[in-house]
Amino acid sequence: MLDRLLDASIVFSFDRTGYRRHAKGFAAGDLDVDLTGRTCLVTGASSGLGIEIARGLAERGASVHMLCRDVGKGEAVRDAIDGAHAWKLVVAPIDLSDFESIRRYVQTHAPSTIDVLVHNAGVLPDARTSTADGLELTAATNLVGPFLLTHLLWPRLRPDARVIHVSSGGMYSQKLDVPTLFDPPEPFDGVAAYARTKRAQVVLTELLHERSTRRVSSMHPGWADTPGVQTSLPRFRRVTKAILRTAAEGADTALWLAASPAASSPEGRFYFDRAPRSTHLSRRTHERPEDRAQLWRTLCERIGADPDTAFR
Ligand SMILES: NC(=O)c1ccc[n+]([C@@H]2O[C@H](COP(=O)([O-])OP(=O)(O)OC[C@H]3O[C@@H](n4cnc5c(N)ncnc54)[C@H](OP(=O)(O)O)[C@@H]3O)[C@@H](O)[C@H]2O)c1
Repeated sequence: MLDRLLDASIVFSFDRTGYRRHAKGFAAGDLDVDLTGRTCLVTGASSGLGIEIARGLAERGASVHMLCRDVGKGEAVRDAIDGAHAWKLVVAPIDLSDFESIRRYVQTHAPSTIDVLVHNAGVLPDARTSTADGLELTAATNLVGPFLLTHLLWPRLRPDARVIHVSSGGMYSQKLDVPTLFDPPEPFDGVAAYARTKRAQVVLTELLHERSTRRVSSMHPGWADTPGVQTSLPRFRRVTKAILRTAAEGADTALWLAASPAASSPEGRFYFDRAPRSTHLSRRTHERPEDRAQLWRTLCERIGADPDTAFR
């Protein structure tokens, strides 16, 4: 009963006390796993949660490709977390807001077989910007670019590969609305635009699960103290600083979904603290089937994929 009340409070669920309370229910040994021979891709591995996901996979023996828009920053992070160069960490360039960069990454740097793809990179800009492909930056970086990357890498994903979308609890505030997702209203509200892309990631995960046998999932990290939160949400961080999770605590569920045998059948669901969670807190945010279909069609159109045959 107390757990239910604390979870319903949001604050004492998303914060560090929530992590520690939920962690008491984690099965011992879930992450005692040898990932030698596995190839894992982590986007946004140059900061915050991405560093912790990359570290967690590499220290368990995986070959980890750190996909970073700033290779110098990625290499500095790699050297900081693995000074002895004992792990298999490769830094590769990609800008997820730019289709050409994504295609170049796949043609030039992507491994031929992939076991894990973690879509962790994300942005929350405070002003509206258009990308070279004519997309609003938040939608491009958090949603369309990652979708193009998944599409291009799909043939290289092993049949039991895991694909993980790092979403946000902020998505609970938004209902899927495809026109607004791609063309946010003025005045631009960065937090709302971000939350819409995070809602869309969760729906997209379900749509991918309906179409394929690959192990797709989405998750949210709660509230973790990262450079992203410090820069994009300075006021929120000032107020919540004392209760924020560590980056490793925020990254824990993504790592668990990527690595643990206990997470081998995620079935397109949305996870938080190693457990599947409801994707809605209110009936107000329930989307209609036609909204889901529109999201799929629009995403496929944007990346030039056939909506009927893609990802089959
Ligand atoms: N921290 C939290 O409490 C929290 C809560 C909910 C959801 N999340 C989600 O968790 C994920 C990680 O967030 P974080 O808090 O760790 O943020 P962060 O510290 O800002 O890290 C974001 C990462 O994404 C990369 N990135 C941004 N734009 C990119 C682009 N166009 N192409 C390639 N990479 C790009 C950044 O690269 P640079 O290093 O070059 O900037 C950085 O590595 C995000 O998807 C975020 O939405 C975080």
